[in-house]
Parts: sequence; C-alpha cells; structure tokens
Amino acid sequence: AIPVILDVDTGVDDAMAILFALAHPGINVLGISCVAGNASLERVVENTLRILDVAEAPHIPVAAGARRPLLEPPRSAAHVHGESGLGTLQLPPTDRKAEPISSIDLMHRLIQASPHPVTLIGLAPQTNLALLLRQYPDVVDNIERIVFMGGSTTVGNATAVAEFNVWHDPEAAAIVLDSGVPTFMYGLDVFNQVSIPERVALALVQSDSTVAHVVGQLLNNRIALGSGRNAEYTGLIGDAGALCALVDPRGLTTRMLPLRVQLSGYGRGQTLVDKRTHPGEDIMHGLAGEWEAAEVALDVDVDRYARLFLDTLGLGSAL
Ligand code: BDR
Ligand code: CA
Repeated sequence: AIPVILDVDTGVDDAMAILFALAHPGINVLGISCVAGNASLERVVENTLRILDVAEAPHIPVAAGARRPLLEPPRSAAHVHGESGLGTLQLPPTDRKAEPISSIDLMHRLIQASPHPVTLIGLAPQTNLALLLRQYPDVVDNIERIVFMGGSTTVGNATAVAEFNVWHDPEAAAIVLDSGVPTFMYGLDVFNQVSIPERVALALVQSDSTVAHVVGQLLNNRIALGSGRNAEYTGLIGDAGALCALVDPRGLTTRMLPLRVQLSGYGRGQTLVDKRTHPGEDIMHGLAGEWEAAEVALDVDVDRYARLFLDTLGLGSAL
C-alpha cells in the first residue's frame, strides 16, 4: 500500500476523501494534517476526528497546523461548506483527540520514520505543506511526490480564474511547486467532472449502513450547495477524486506542463499553465520568470472514477 499523509480542511468533500483513503487497500494513511480553509482550524480538526469515528478507523494521528494563510487574512468558505464545514451533516461528538503537537511536526516525524518514501496528498490550501518544506527541508529526501487538489488550466471557482485552495494561499502553493518534489495537479479541469447521480445519493441517504448514509448526505450537500451560485458543485466527489488519481492514474489524461502561480493582480491565485507543444522563447530564455514542471490532469473517465469511489466504499450496488 502507498504510504500517504493527508492534508485536509474538512470540508464536505475532504470528508469523502478521508473515508475513501481509509477504505482503499492500496492506501496506507499514516496521519492527517489539518489546516484552515473550508472552515476554521478548530472545526476542521473536530470534523476530521468525527469522520474517523464514522470510518471506525483505528488510531490515526491527527494534528492541527496553520490557522490562516501565510500572507492572506483568514477567510470563510461557509457559503460552500456551511458553518460547520460539513454542510447539513450532523455527526456525534467524538472522544478522539488531536495530537498535542503541530501538524508540521507530525508530518516531519511520520516522514522521517517511514521506511518508504511518503506521498503527500494536499486537499486544502497548501499552508501546512509550505511550512513543512520551509521548516524541515530535509523531508524532501523521503517524499515520493505531492499530489494536490488545486488549480485549474481553465475556469476558476474562488474567482473567475483561480481555484479556492491555491487562491486561499497562493504563496504556499508557489513554495510547494518550487520545492523540487515532483508534483501532480488534480485541478478543477477534472474535479468539476466526477459526480455521482442524484438518485444514487438519495438512495444512500436511505441506507441503514452508517458509511452509506453519511456519504449520501455529503453528496447531497454538494447537490444542495449546488443550487444557486455554486451550480458547478452538483453531486461531486470532489477531493476524493485526487485519491482516485493516486490509485487509478489510468482513469486520467495527464501531461507534464510548465506551471506557475500568479501572485498579483486580479489573477492572484490562478495557476498558469503553458499548453504550447513547444515552450516559447519567453520561457526558454527565462524572460517569463520561474516556471516549474508539474504533471497536470486534463481529463478524466467520469464513470470509472464514480464506480471506483462507490466500490471502494462498498456502495457499488447503489449505482
Ligand atoms: C477545493 O476547495 C474546497 O472547497 C474543496 O474542499 C476542495 O479542496 C475545491 O476548489
Ligand atoms: Ca478541501
């Protein structure tokens, strides 16, 4: 199984990603690092611990990291994920506790202790990942790669051109891309596509099984949250798609592309991608500043990932 650390801002779709990662036999979740994003840091930690209860997961260390972006002020995403961060889903309080150390230190320890290189899965603003790479630069020696949900080569969601996770902390994303660690971008190009039919989500809500019921509610949140200005969110599995990408890369069309984060002006937080077949003179001669190479997901087999998502959670019969 692939050893991973999840960095999350749970978050309706982060919750589905955590359930998927814990259920998939090809993924070994070493720990979970929390960051402010979809909700406040305290809510994110609490939501994450409650979701571990739903999964009946054995002890998985969870720790709290940054409560705000590196430069930007803290912001709320309550209009997408609700005040609680989990939309309308209500989960019972948990006896689980977060580790008494920062998630930066937790990630450092887990990476150092792992006999195999660790894959970092970024499902949130990348503040924690940037702090880890800055504070403990030696970790790069035992990181396989960073797979992140974020960015877009086309449309944005936080702004017309910027995706939320990168927009929330653009400097952090730039630090991650510049770290020398191979990066894989699961952006809105694919994120906005993988959805579960509404009739399946409604059937799951009616189920007696706790996991089915919770996943149904989370999917329904996306449907409910999709009415109105966030119509593109209808029934998406969201962040869980980045874990599908980890275990089933053949479901995607990807390309190695020059990539950078726009740091100023209206485009702040936009991921700029050079899709020309041959890099232009501007890039070749360094006239356009620093570009990094990243593997970028451009298209996805939606049915394949929808099935993978449901099958992994033992819910395939609902499809
Ligand atoms: C990303 O932002 C959050 O709303 C989701 O959890 C996802 O990580 C989508 O832009
Ligand atoms: Ca997220």
